[in-house]
Amino acid sequence: MADDQGSAPSVPKSVIEVTAFMPEARRDPHPPLKALRENCPVMRDEMAKAWFLTRYGDVRTTVNDRSFIRHPLNAEEGSISRQLVDEENPRRTSILFMDNPDHARVRPPLAKAFYARINKMKDQIEAIVDETIEAAPASGVFDLMEEIAVPIPVTVIARILGVDEERLADFRDWSEAVILGLNPVRTPEETERMMAGGAALEAYFAELMERRREAPADDLITDMVQLQASGDAPLSDDEVRINLQALLVGGNLTTTDLIGNGVWLFLTHPEQLAALKADPGLASQAVEEVLRFEAPVSATSRIAEADKPVAGCPVKEHQVVFCSLASANRDAETFEAPDTFDITQKRASHVAFGGGPHICIGAPLARMEARRVYQKLFERYPDMKLPEQDIAWRALPFFRGIETLLVEV
Ligand code: HEM
Repeated sequence: MADDQGSAPSVPKSVIEVTAFMPEARRDPHPPLKALRENCPVMRDEMAKAWFLTRYGDVRTTVNDRSFIRHPLNAEEGSISRQLVDEENPRRTSILFMDNPDHARVRPPLAKAFYARINKMKDQIEAIVDETIEAAPASGVFDLMEEIAVPIPVTVIARILGVDEERLADFRDWSEAVILGLNPVRTPEETERMMAGGAALEAYFAELMERRREAPADDLITDMVQLQASGDAPLSDDEVRINLQALLVGGNLTTTDLIGNGVWLFLTHPEQLAALKADPGLASQAVEEVLRFEAPVSATSRIAEADKPVAGCPVKEHQVVFCSLASANRDAETFEAPDTFDITQKRASHVAFGGGPHICIGAPLARMEARRVYQKLFERYPDMKLPEQDIAWRALPFFRGIETLLVEV
C-alpha cells in the first residue's frame, strides 16, 4: 500500500533493512521505521530470528517488563543476538547482558559508586569539556568529531576511573580498539587490534586495582575495591574489571554521537540554535530533544523466558524481541510533530536510554557532558557553520552517529 503513495518507502521485511548496514537507512532510517510503525508495528523476521517493535507504547512496555531476560546465550538458535556472545567465555559478561540474580547483585553497588563519583566530579567533568573546546582550532575548518566529540567522553571516563595521566594516550588507543567489538563486520586486522587492545586494557585495570588496594586514590577504581573489601559489594575481581570496562564500551561512542548529532542538528536548524543562544537554560531540554530526534543507540533487545503475548503477538520462549528506540521516539501517538526538531517544547520522555532494570547506567554522565558542550561550544564559536560536505553516517548496526563533521569557525 505504501508503495502506491509515490514517495512513501516500501515496508521493510527484515530488521537489517532499517540498520546502518544498508546505505539508505544509514543516511536516514526514519522513513522505513515510519513505514513499519504504520503498517507492521510488530514484525517477525525469520532470517534474523527476531521480533521488531516500532511503536512507543510497545517499546516502553517491553523494556520495562521485568519478566524478560537479556543474556544472548538464552536466545533461540540462529538469532542475530547470539553473535554478541563471547565465544571463548560465553557466560562472561558485564551488567549489559546479565540476568538476575547476578544483575541485581552487581548493578546496584556499581551504580551507587558511579553516581557518587559523577556528582563529586561535576566541576572536573565540566572543566574537561571546557578545556577540550578551548584547545580546538581558533579559526578555519576542522573535524568536530576528532577535536571535540571523540576526546571528551574518553578523557572524562579516564579521569573518573583514575587512569594515570601518562597512560592516557594508551588508554585512548585501547578504548578505541575495544569499541571495534561493536562492529560485527570487522576486518581481520581490526579483530586483531580489538583483541590486543582488550588484553592491554584488562591487564592495566588489573594492575590499577592492585595498586589502589595498596594505595587508595580519589577515583572509581578505589571506590570499587574498597566496597569489595568492606563486604558491601559481593563482586569478584573479574566482575569489577569487566563492569568498569563496560563503562568505556557503553559510554564512549554513544556520548560522542550525542555530541556530534546535536551539533549537526543545531547547525542545520539555525532557529533552534538561536533559541539556545538566547536562553542557555534550554540546554538540558535540548539534550533530551537531540536524544529523542537522533537516538545514538537505535535499538535494544529482550528475550522471552517463557511463551508470552507481546503487543498482541504470540512470542515463544527464547525468542528475541528488538525494540526500536529510534522509531519509538518518533511515534506520533506520543509526540506531537515528531519529525520536527524543537528544543523549546517540553515533550513526553523519550526511550533513548532504554528502560526498566537495564536502563542506561551512564545517562546522567552523558547528559552532563552534552549539556556543557552545547552551552560552551556556541559561546566559543558564535559563528560556527557547516561547510559543504556529504555527511557520512557510521555503518555500525543499531548505532546512529556521524563519522566526520567538518565545521567552519
Ligand atoms: C548518549 C549516550 C548514551 C546512550 C544513548 C546510551 C544508551 C544505552 C541503551 C539504549 C542501553 C540499553 C538499555 C536497555 O536495554 O533498556 C544502555 C545500557 C548501558 N549503558 Fe548506555 N548509553 C549512553 C551513555 C552511556 C555512558 C556514558 C555509559 C557509562 C559511562 C553507559 C553505560 C551503559 C551500561 C553499562 C549499560 C548496561 C546497563 C544494564 O544493562 O544494566 N552508557 N545504554
